[in-house]
Amino acid sequence: MTSSYGLRGRAAVVTGATRGIGWAVARALADAGARVCVSARDPDRVRRAAGELDGVGLAGDVGDPGHPRKLTELCLDAFGRLDVLVNNAATNQPYGPLMDADPGAWREAFTVNVEAPLRLVQCAWRGWMREHGGVVVNICTEGAGHVGPDVGAYGTSKAALLHLTRQLAGELGPGVRVNSVSPGLVRTEMARFVWEPGEGEIAAALPLGRIGEPEDVARAVVWLCSEEAKWITGADLLVDGGTSVRRARIAPQGARGTARPAPTTPTRPPA
Ligand SMILES: NC(=O)c1ccc[n+]([C@@H]2O[C@H](COP(=O)([O-])OP(=O)(O)OC[C@H]3O[C@@H](n4cnc5c(N)ncnc54)[C@H](OP(=O)(O)O)[C@@H]3O)[C@@H](O)[C@H]2O)c1
Repeated sequence: MTSSYGLRGRAAVVTGATRGIGWAVARALADAGARVCVSARDPDRVRRAAGELDGVGLAGDVGDPGHPRKLTELCLDAFGRLDVLVNNAATNQPYGPLMDADPGAWREAFTVNVEAPLRLVQCAWRGWMREHGGVVVNICTEGAGHVGPDVGAYGTSKAALLHLTRQLAGELGPGVRVNSVSPGLVRTEMARFVWEPGEGEIAAALPLGRIGEPEDVARAVVWLCSEEAKWITGADLLVDGGTSVRRARIAPQGARGTARPAPTTPTRPPA
């Protein structure tokens, strides 16, 4: 990252920032001069990520009721400000037809993928952004709004996050910009069940000839957070190598019954 994009001295919270897209985003923000506060569930990885970024971190599940407040307070205590919030952590469970979806697992998808981002925005707004302004980026998915046989809960929750993004953009301007980035298939743990068995075939079907790397998404997120994007709010930026152009030819292996995703979040018992 050669330009600070006006992010030098800013403070950023990134959820799910110990691997994959979140880690790439946290690194890219730090490279652009921001101080970074990270979170994820595994405490060792959080400690390592925060250490490598010379930042701070909090271990916990974004879906836990107290986590958003504790995370935003940590950022404010450590850096005295909270200019950027990237809602990246998500779960891809429950996997399978919606008719079989367990109510607890369905609620978990909405708790982690929709409610937690809202709670984090509320805490960031009350703690800093209402008075000083800021930027929020929600990580959605190119697949939101598309229909798939086994990803109904994930897709529906991400479609809700897309709408939440637009609603918050309407509520929080002019001081706070709220946008989303929707990645196509990216080489991370969450999507391993799709790209590992079929990367060659999938890459060949994409206009840009390859699947995404976490850094492809991170560059777009940092740009949206920057002054370069200061007249953009309520937008969704597709970062998908052209997946949406030829979507009909790209089906998750799991959708053909050959692989299933590893759970990214343990299912809580129904409330
Ligand atoms: N990879 C793709 O192809 C793709 C495509 C479209 C959209 N996306 C979106 O991109 C985002 C990042 O996905 P990824 O592929 O980078 O996933 P990933 O490689 O599985 O990384 C997920 C990160 O989030 C953390 N995390 C997971 N659940 C959490 C929870 N409940 N609370 C707190 N932290 C949690 C994980 O650490 P712990 O396990 O330690 O908590 C990890 O740091 C997600 O919003 C996903 O929906 C990904």
